[in-house]
Amino acid sequence: MAITFTLGRPEMTKALLRVLRGEPVWPPPVWLMRQAGRYLPEYRAVRATVPDFIALCTTPDLATEVTLQPIRRYALDAAILFSDILILPWALGQGLAFKEGEGPVLPPIRDEAAFGLLDPSRVARNTAPVMETVRQIRASLTREGFESTTLIGFAGAPFTVACYMVEGSGSRDFAATRTLAWQNPSLFDRIIELLIETTTQYLSAQVQAGAEVLMLFDSWAGVLAPSRFRRYVIEPTRRIVVALRERFPDVPVIGFPRIAGPSVEAYAHETGVSAVGLDTAMDLARVVPMLPETVAAQGNLDPLALVAGGAAMAEETQAILAAMRGRPFIFNLGHGIVPQTPPEHVAALIEMVRAS
Ligand code: CP3
Repeated sequence: MAITFTLGRPEMTKALLRVLRGEPVWPPPVWLMRQAGRYLPEYRAVRATVPDFIALCTTPDLATEVTLQPIRRYALDAAILFSDILILPWALGQGLAFKEGEGPVLPPIRDEAAFGLLDPSRVARNTAPVMETVRQIRASLTREGFESTTLIGFAGAPFTVACYMVEGSGSRDFAATRTLAWQNPSLFDRIIELLIETTTQYLSAQVQAGAEVLMLFDSWAGVLAPSRFRRYVIEPTRRIVVALRERFPDVPVIGFPRIAGPSVEAYAHETGVSAVGLDTAMDLARVVPMLPETVAAQGNLDPLALVAGGAAMAEETQAILAAMRGRPFIFNLGHGIVPQTPPEHVAALIEMVRAS
């Protein structure tokens, strides 16, 4: 049964915002990480018109178009800005290329000399197209009648962005990054410090351009030893949340400390985030009682159950819904949607969540 409240401000009728303020809205709002992307033929068509992925992220008309594609198909409760967590290192002047089939490649930063080449004074100018995209998405959502869809802006959390900046590419375990953090903590602290400042600035600009919610992706939080998790995940996230809340007290922040395991409890209590994203491996029945009652949860269907569809997806989805009923909850995947996902499975999933 749907729980309805009458509230004064029109934006408060948006289900995602209500959940992020602690209301157990049911059926829960739903969106999917990486909802714009290669599983959609209309995305591949736009992608084919640009030379590279960075050009797609920095061309506001195209980035707006691909942001809206999944909303037009599924009327999701959230649109997420089409960009990438690596746009910030790119904007700082670190080179970045996305190689076909290889993922991102950057010149690694492992000494003071390489760090010294980064230039925070360039961030505002280089990310201006992203802010234009945010403005265009808000205008398009209104123009196309998606009044209940909330716009999420985002950045990578400092540790995960530092992983790519130091490693110079994706990695299974980010061994070079973790070694640098142990061997040269003063350099690693300077990298994290620079990312705290520039991420706060970059997210603030997204709010000023029209983002209604912010999300911090900490995809590699779980590779750290507990003492380093506190120093490089919890503390930087807390500082960003405090700084944002001072400027924008009403803008909720969703944190996603992926593969953090039991450390998610300290993360949820200490960072000040409004919601915590739970990854695929999280057992909701065990984890949810650890979270403060004021912190909403988001997650966590296995993206590969969505690829499989059918009974497997249905059973897993119902189990998640049953575990979360009555709590402030946002239905999502436990990690990003994968390119081989059949779009009709996404439609079936959304329908199932909305019928709950
Ligand atoms: O969710 C959305 O639809 C919004 C856009 C978005 C993208 N990346 C688009 C993208 C978001 C929120 C991200 C976040 C991101 N980017 C993360 C954190 C979340 C996670 O998945 O853990 C990370 C670690 C990255 C870095 C990144 N970007 C990698 C490792 C890759 C290559 C792997 C891949 O999937 O190709 C990317 C590229 C990327 N980012 C694509 C998209 C749609 C594919 C590029 C293409 O279309 O060619």
